[in-house]
Amino acid sequence: MLKKFIGGLGSSEKFEIPAHDSPLFQNIQWDRLPRHVAVIMDGNGRWATGKGLIRTAGHRAGVKTLKNILKTAIGLGLDALTVYAFSTENWKRPRPEVDFLMNLFSEYLIKELREMDEDNVRIHFIGRIEGLPPGLQKQMREAEELMKDNTGIHFNVAANYGGQDELVRAVQRLAAKAAAGEIQPEDIDEAAIDQELDTAGNPPVDLVIRTSGDERLSNFLLWQSAYAEFYFTDVNWPDFRPEDFVAAMEDFAGRSRRFGGLKNQ
Ligand code: FPP
Repeated sequence: MLKKFIGGLGSSEKFEIPAHDSPLFQNIQWDRLPRHVAVIMDGNGRWATGKGLIRTAGHRAGVKTLKNILKTAIGLGLDALTVYAFSTENWKRPRPEVDFLMNLFSEYLIKELREMDEDNVRIHFIGRIEGLPPGLQKQMREAEELMKDNTGIHFNVAANYGGQDELVRAVQRLAAKAAAGEIQPEDIDEAAIDQELDTAGNPPVDLVIRTSGDERLSNFLLWQSAYAEFYFTDVNWPDFRPEDFVAAMEDFAGRSRRFGGLKNQ
């Protein structure tokens, strides 16, 4: 049974949400899981060019990985999974690649919406959504609306997202409220900023995973990751399997989190 996971999935094989007693989860410490995991899905381009394919083939392969990781996160009972799909800096890429990614997000929503809803997922798009193609914005809003009363995992997809940009937008809204006399400047505390962020209502990020070897945050969830643990792997995102995600959970379980204090959590 374990071989099924370790051996990887055949291209037509559908990956289901693993049960609590799945062999995949045999070494999980259930009381030491992160609540909120953020993933920088890097290495799609390198995966593709390494196989002699065009870069966009890597993004398409990355969608399948994302579906399986979301199912794994649901099986683990995580509160939130936030993934970096498109940054405010990604507009610098060649136009055909940007267009491909926008179409891929749209296609993903068309194909996966119903199943995510059945899986009780609450999807949410974070970032400067108004900067995305209008048709995609509409699909995103409709997807959020469809799943808003679900009670399962918060699945946040960062699109046209930058952590600094998110903070600028939050501060601008707070400044507007102060200028309108709705709040006093001294009311602006950590909780007030937290509530203005795109991730309002989510727990802080406990664990950031970055695939493909680079070890940086790349403007992702700057505020939310203040006390996050980091997990880096050389595996390219399209090759990142549920057992790799589980390995990150097992690694996290062994971390000593002190949040600036002295005692272990
Ligand atoms: C980084 O790899 C990946 C991206 C910029 C796009 C991420 C998109 C997906 C994984 C597709 C699925 C997403 C959704 C929401 C359907 P890279 O292109 O920077 O790779 P490289 O560093 O090897 O060039």
